[in-house]
Amino acid sequence: MNFAGNHILSIQQFERDDVDRIFDVADRMAPYAQRRRITRVLEGAILGSMFFEPSTRTRVSFGSAFNLLGGEVRETTGFESTAIAKGESLFDTARVLSGYSDVIAMRHPMEGSVAEFAAASRVPVINGGDGSNEHPSQALLDLYTIRSEIAARGKSLDQLRIAMVGDLRYGRTVHSLCKLLGLYPGVQIVLVSPQALQMPAEIVEDLRNTGHSVLESEQLEASISNVDIVYSTRIQEERFNTQEEADLYRGRFRLNQNIYTRHCEPNTVIMHPLPRDSRENARELDDDLNDNPNLAIFRQADNGLLVRMALFALILDVVDDVDTHARDVRWYTGGRF
Ligand code: NCD
Repeated sequence: MNFAGNHILSIQQFERDDVDRIFDVADRMAPYAQRRRITRVLEGAILGSMFFEPSTRTRVSFGSAFNLLGGEVRETTGFESTAIAKGESLFDTARVLSGYSDVIAMRHPMEGSVAEFAAASRVPVINGGDGSNEHPSQALLDLYTIRSEIAARGKSLDQLRIAMVGDLRYGRTVHSLCKLLGLYPGVQIVLVSPQALQMPAEIVEDLRNTGHSVLESEQLEASISNVDIVYSTRIQEERFNTQEEADLYRGRFRLNQNIYTRHCEPNTVIMHPLPRDSRENARELDDDLNDNPNLAIFRQADNGLLVRMALFALILDVVDDVDTHARDVRWYTGGRF
């Protein structure tokens, strides 16, 4: 695809070559994300960051990624602080805000809302999550992480075996990740969820129609014993009609060090889009995994910067100018990376 000036709304936009291109550019962003070099390539540019649903990582990493390329960020969070609370349509909001920004990152609770907004926007829009539909930049950073974690274990994406666990019905990250893995024919996928929270049937069908092995299961232990990656997810309680309904499923599948040691192959990678639910009745990924070197969740979150910087550089068409507007960092950076 041609990235320059285009929206990023769904994983369905991408071919495998596009993903390779994003990952190549993401690799080149490492010196900047790791605070060894500083670039001003987007000096003067403005990111409109519009998050109508709670967000920590996605919102802050989109903002930081833009800042690391030298741009500025204008931010709104929640409905209360915007004119949408006064009845303004997405169309009008998009027409107005796209006059104030060079690119917009947006999250909204309604499926299809970001695409509707993008259709009215005068600048490119990146979908930071539209309801339970999609979260394409998360899937890209997930796959970028999977690739680097399994490469370190001498394996490649084409033979990947992955188990996705938890709320596969409402979890937009796993929807986008499944669509992305659909580009890699040898990938084997195990979907572990309560019956009521299964992966949408059309996503499973699309994978099977492209020759992928997809198993659906309600058994955690048996499903994580022959995989390279366990990708855990939180019960998306905000999508349920009542808390009581969410309570039925919270805590159903818990991975902890004991289960990991007993059931997983050595060096199975543990991932989660975060936030993990650390409340007593949830704990889908227990804190006792924190010292396990195969817990990749914070490397995964760090990779969000690289991938989001790459998306901005591609969309605003400055990939080849990043290094020419760069110099070494002068402040103390410690041994963070
Ligand atoms: C996810 C989301 O918002 O979809 N978080 C994220 O963006 N990293 C997952 C979640 O909220 O459970």
